[in-house]
Amino acid sequence: MSTLAWTDDLALQHPQMDLTHQEFIELLAAADAVLAPGQEAALLARFDTLVAHTIEHFGQEDRWMQASGFAPENCHSFQHQAVLQVMQECARRARLTDAPDFEPLRIAVRELAVWFPQHAKMMDAALAQHLESVGLDIASGQCAQAPAAGAITGCGGSSCGG
Ligand SMILES: [Fe+2]
Ligand SMILES: [Fe+2]
Repeated sequence: MSTLAWTDDLALQHPQMDLTHQEFIELLAAADAVLAPGQEAALLARFDTLVAHTIEHFGQEDRWMQASGFAPENCHSFQHQAVLQVMQECARRARLTDAPDFEPLRIAVRELAVWFPQHAKMMDAALAQHLESVGLDIASGQCAQAPAAGAITGCGGSSCGG
């Protein structure tokens, strides 16, 4: 059973980001509910839905970063890329026709439940604060305070040296 559920301490006071994070947690919980042997088809289908959602989720944050002064190469976007690559590789291995391997995918579902709150509370929280400070309008992609284009390479998290 998933230990990850939405709680108020995951809220970052950014409505669109918070909504996306609630959806992420729901989709992850749906995958977590079918980890038992014999439920592989459901697990893979639910994981595929999670991957598709995650592509949008990360892409949305990456776009907001680029619209608000982050360099394309910044550690938050790099972490998105790395996590998504692992998720896609796990789905690929579960899909191998000769010897499908679901173990990496099961591990990924459990690990994502550990990873997500850390990512949200550090990198996404810093991003939400930054977006607030520059006044990014997510509908238009315009900032009230013009940021220096491509200037930020760190994530703004307390453990980030960037
Ligand atoms: Fe996020
Ligand atoms: Fe993020």
